[in-house]
Amino acid sequence: MISINSKLPTVGINIFSVMSKLAQENNAINLSQGFPDYPTDPKLIDFVTKAMKDGHNQYAPMPGLPVLREFIAEKANSLYNANYDPETEVTVTAGGTEAIFTALASVINPGDEVIIFEPAYDCYSPTVKLLGGLVKPFELHAPDYAIDWEMVKKLFTANTRLIILNSPQNPTGSILSKPDIEALIKLIKNTDILILSDEVYEHIIFDGEQHQSVALYPELQERSFVVASFGKLLHTTGWKLGYCLAPAKLMTEFRKVHQFNVFSVNTPMQLGVANYLKSEKVHETLSSFFEQKRDLFRSLITETKFKLLPCKGSYFQCVDYSTISDEHDLDFAKRLVTEFGVAGIPVSAFYTKNKADKILRFCFAKEQRTLEKAVERLMKI
Ligand SMILES: Cc1ncc(COP(=O)(O)O)c(C=O)c1O
Repeated sequence: MISINSKLPTVGINIFSVMSKLAQENNAINLSQGFPDYPTDPKLIDFVTKAMKDGHNQYAPMPGLPVLREFIAEKANSLYNANYDPETEVTVTAGGTEAIFTALASVINPGDEVIIFEPAYDCYSPTVKLLGGLVKPFELHAPDYAIDWEMVKKLFTANTRLIILNSPQNPTGSILSKPDIEALIKLIKNTDILILSDEVYEHIIFDGEQHQSVALYPELQERSFVVASFGKLLHTTGWKLGYCLAPAKLMTEFRKVHQFNVFSVNTPMQLGVANYLKSEKVHETLSSFFEQKRDLFRSLITETKFKLLPCKGSYFQCVDYSTISDEHDLDFAKRLVTEFGVAGIPVSAFYTKNKADKILRFCFAKEQRTLEKAVERLMKI
C-alpha cells in the first residue's frame, strides 16, 4: 500500500460543493453557491466565439494579452487614482482563486504568519497551510462584522508576513470603511507586513458607498496584491478569468510562480473579454444591477421568520434563524434543503473554529423568479 503524508489532512470537500450536490439531489432552489442562474450577455459570447473562429487559440503571453492588461490598468488607474503599469504590474490569472494562490505562494515561507478575518472565504486558510505558513484567524461577529484594529494589533508577532483583506466581504456582505483603512495604515507603518486584498466584489457595493480599494492609498498599494475576478464582473463564474495588480517588485515574484502554475490563461476569452469591455462599461452599472436584486430579496425575506443582517456589498445576504431553530447551522442548512427545498451556506463553515451563530448565507445573484420561489418556500418555515 502506498502511503501518502497528506499536506492538508483536515481538508475535505468544500461546503459549496456539498450544498450544491445536496441541492441537486433534492431538486432544491440553490441559493448556496455564488453563481448567477441567468444567461451571460450574448454579445460577450459572440466576442469570445469570434476570437476562437479568428484563430486565437494558442498560448497567450505569460502575463496575459496586452490588450486586456491595458484595459485592466486603465480601469484601476482611473477608478483608484493609481499608477499600475500594464507591462509589469498586471497579470491575468485563472480566476481570483489562482491569483490568491499565486500571490500567497510567491511570498509566504514556512513559519510565516498570515492574519485572516473570519468568517473568511474558504481558500485562504488551506493555501497558507499548504505553503507551510501559519493562519492567525481574527474572529468577527454578527451583525456588522466590524474590525477592532487595536485587537488585530495583538496578533502581530515578528513572524507576521501578510494580512488578507476582503471587501466587499464574502460571506457577510460587510465592507471596509475609510476609517478601517486609516487604522490599518497606522498599524502597519514601519513594518514589512504585506497585504493581499481580495477585491473580487469591488463593483458590487450598495447605498452609494465607495469601494475602499487598497489601490487608493499609496501606503497600502506599495505592499499589496490586489485580486479581481471577471467571473463576478461579467456574470461568468465558470470562465475562471481574473487578474492581480501589484507593484513591480511584488509582481516579479508573482509571475515567477504564475508561469509554472498555469503559465498563461486561455486566449480567446482574454481577447473576447477585452473587445467586449471596449464598448460595455459593465463596472459602472453592476452595483445598481445587484442593488435591485438585494432590495427585492430583502423585502421578500421580511415576510419570513428569518432576520436580515446588513448587506453593504457582494451578492450575499446573511440571515439569522435563531428564532426558528436551535440546530447547528450545518444541520439546519441540510434540513432546509431536504425538507423545504432551499439551499444556503452555513456561516460556521467560514470559521476555523466552526463558530456556529445560527446564520445562513444566501446568494441573490439569481433571476427574480428564482428568488421569489425560494422565499415562497422559506415562508413555510
Ligand atoms: C471572496 C472571493 N474571493 C475569490 C473568489 C474566487 O474568484 P474566482 O471564481 O474568479 O476564482 C471568490 C469566488 O466566489 C470569492 O467569493
